[in-house]
Amino acid sequence: MMPLHTTPTPTIIRHVRHKMHKRSEPICAYFYDLDALAGHVQAMRHALPLFCELFYAVKANAAPPLLHVLASLCDGFEVASGGELAHIRRYQPQARLLFGGPGKLESELEAALFPPIEALHVESLHELELIHDIAEKKQCVAPIMVRLNLPRGDGAATRLVMSGTPSAFGIDEAHFEQALTVIRNSKWLSFKGLHLHAQSHQCDAAEHGAMLRGFLRHINELEDCLSFHAPIINLGGGMGVAYQEPHHHFDWPSFCQMLQNLPNTERRERHFRFEVGRFMTAFCGVYAMEVIDLKQSYGEWFAIARGGTHHFRLPSAQAHSHPIHVVRASRPPDITHQQVTVTGQLCTPKDVLARHVPIEALAPGDVFLLPMAGAYGWSISHHDFLMHPPPHHYFIQKDRIWEEKI
Ligand SMILES: Cc1ncc(COP(=O)(O)O)c(C=O)c1O
Repeated sequence: MMPLHTTPTPTIIRHVRHKMHKRSEPICAYFYDLDALAGHVQAMRHALPLFCELFYAVKANAAPPLLHVLASLCDGFEVASGGELAHIRRYQPQARLLFGGPGKLESELEAALFPPIEALHVESLHELELIHDIAEKKQCVAPIMVRLNLPRGDGAATRLVMSGTPSAFGIDEAHFEQALTVIRNSKWLSFKGLHLHAQSHQCDAAEHGAMLRGFLRHINELEDCLSFHAPIINLGGGMGVAYQEPHHHFDWPSFCQMLQNLPNTERRERHFRFEVGRFMTAFCGVYAMEVIDLKQSYGEWFAIARGGTHHFRLPSAQAHSHPIHVVRASRPPDITHQQVTVTGQLCTPKDVLARHVPIEALAPGDVFLLPMAGAYGWSISHHDFLMHPPPHHYFIQKDRIWEEKI
């Protein structure tokens, strides 16, 4: 197992304490430990076989300092909109780029072809023809990978499945031959391989491996039957973070070992590519909220903290109670040994980050730290609801801390 930062790193706790002494307003901030991020991704890379590439799915968190760290450790970035494409081109102009996602606009496809990116992930027959038309009009060859929606065979399904089920993603197996015909008849489409992102939130590496091996066997049959070869297969992301069970995270090293041991009847000498989001950046980030108010309602304790789900929607999106660590301020506690529900400042009963958290001691002025907040935290939240000020975003590297507007 590789060590994962499922609790706030000592570096982050030290900086939070420092901010608590100096603050003029209650604390509300994201803290990112960039050294922890670099260490984690280096360990991921180290375990990964040489025939695999590691891309980062930018949608998880596109903060420029994170991108800067990842640019030197990953093979490139996967973007899923024209906005993400422009963002990466601005902050990491040298990076290799993959562009996926349904409903790409003509203008976005054109932007992806000039200058050309590494690969466009084709999500439908219509999109394939659109890319052909644009490439022909501009007299350039479009590098494409076809995203397949293959039937699921092996490996347990998670609660967020995008393959083997009716969905907006990818091309069904039943339509793939038609896609191949379009590709074979076009000199403007260069087929680079296949793409599969079948599900997210898989915390069981063995199940994930079983699912991917099932897909590989299926692809091999397709190759034999339709006489084509996919030199690269992008196997997506989807490695889960077990927010509530710190010992059940995705076992990346054993997953990599499975890849290493794949028989060549399954791998067929080809290269694999991964585009990982959550598992890459979740562990480096912490969301910090200062307790503003502490009250009892119908016999239950509530701590109302600065910020809320408009900054950190993840617990409510996942319908889970997020782990909470308390950093105590110096004043004596108002309550001890109680269960406390942690809410934010929004006027909706859904603004709950954790329920019935066992707390040793608490008072207003203490700070809650919510770990594993580095992926799908700020990026998926409805920031403008109620017009509260945004959180601060602090980045820590080699003991230097700085703030950036995100
Ligand atoms: C096409 C695609 N690739 C990669 C990812 C990243 O997934 P994860 O963050 O679960 O690794 C996603 C997430 O939705 C996706 O849709």
